[in-house]
Amino acid sequence: MDKLVIEGGVPLTGVIPVSGSKNAALPILFASILMDEPVTFTNVPDLRDIHTTIRLLTMLGCACEFSNGTVVMTPGALKPEAPYDLVRTMRASVLCLGPLLARLGEATVALPGGCAIGARPVDQHLKGLEKMGASFDLNAGNIIGRCRRLTGAHISFDMPTVGGTENLLMAAALADGETILENAAREPEIVDLANFLNACGARISGQGTSCIRIQGVSRLGGTTYAIMPDRIEAGTFLVAAGITDGELLVKDCPWDALEAVIRKLQSMGMHLERTPEGVLARRAGRTLNAVDIQTRPYPGFPTDMQAQIMALMCLAEDTSMVEESIFENRFMHVSELMRMGANIKLSGRSAMVHGVRQLTGAPVMASDLRASASLVLAGLAARGTTHVRRIYHLDRGYENIEHKLNAVGARIRREQE
Ligand code: EPZ
Repeated sequence: MDKLVIEGGVPLTGVIPVSGSKNAALPILFASILMDEPVTFTNVPDLRDIHTTIRLLTMLGCACEFSNGTVVMTPGALKPEAPYDLVRTMRASVLCLGPLLARLGEATVALPGGCAIGARPVDQHLKGLEKMGASFDLNAGNIIGRCRRLTGAHISFDMPTVGGTENLLMAAALADGETILENAAREPEIVDLANFLNACGARISGQGTSCIRIQGVSRLGGTTYAIMPDRIEAGTFLVAAGITDGELLVKDCPWDALEAVIRKLQSMGMHLERTPEGVLARRAGRTLNAVDIQTRPYPGFPTDMQAQIMALMCLAEDTSMVEESIFENRFMHVSELMRMGANIKLSGRSAMVHGVRQLTGAPVMASDLRASASLVLAGLAARGTTHVRRIYHLDRGYENIEHKLNAVGARIRREQE
């Protein structure tokens, strides 16, 4: 296993590029199961989860070639089974369920286990697909789904679920008749998925609102589609500028998709300026202010930025409050930040972050993707050396992160643990 060794204390300065969005690319790649013509995707990030998805799609009969950020998918004879040994490494594999049922009328997908941040059930996915005519059995850890032909339905989610909305959106694109998704998730990645499907001939409207309407069509053709920039990676780099007291131009940073994060960083005392190339980020003054955040479905503050902004809060004046309302166990970065001198009190889904003057480098352990990013950010600011172990978590969602950060002044090297 690899670790990152970070010599902290250097203000980062320069231009840092943002890769294509992992959380847009994953559903869009799975949507290629719906296509009966080749499709080409550009601006695809070179990440572990992307390569896992490509392996899975190829096993399902959608041969994918990845080369230098471009993926070409050539459709072939589809198979209905997604094997456990791939699904268990990536929860997003459940996104092949809707497309396989829409194309084949059957699907066998290993029930994705929970993960570090929570149980992460898929009941909303199954309930919605049942309303469209599918039936499911659970056998030996596999979800076995069948349907004669999916038909449009009026579906209302119990809570806004990103994956649930994506699965149903893809299933409805080829179903008979109209589907309405109420209380749908509004994330920009869902808009990107809907825009891709419409570029292939789907008839979707309302994406980005909580009510999405889909008129099923009989087939979906090929296209060439560029994946949107990764707003969470971009937000992570905005925090990197603030936590190291440097100045970064975060290239292709999607300002509108990060509004809630930008407002909070400005309240903390960061100067964020929209430019034609992206967003210029630096501290407005010498110190950082405490703020309170509650994670919420989009357009609220994204749970995927909670660990990163908490690292910044560790160096703010006074006390910040963090409420994690989406996942039940997304504070694993807290104990590791405390090993670096942070002063944080946990109580259920809330964390009280008392600012300290300085963090100190230490050996720490990554536990999930965004917790890893939080520890890297803390290591960049800390006095001394930080060893972030188990960074395979980080490699799931950040493309070449040490190269990107070293290019703007960081001192990071990747070593064998
Ligand atoms: C997506 O996960 C993202 N993953 C997550 O990003 C992100 O944190 C999450 O959305 C919330 O924004 C991808 O896009 C690949 P949900 P997803 O369904 O779809 C509950 C990262 O770091 N729920 O919106 O799994 C669930 O337990 C990852 O990039 C049900 O109860 O999230 C959670 O509390 C981590 N039943 C809430 O809804 C269901 O059937 C939101 O989950 C589905 C979800």
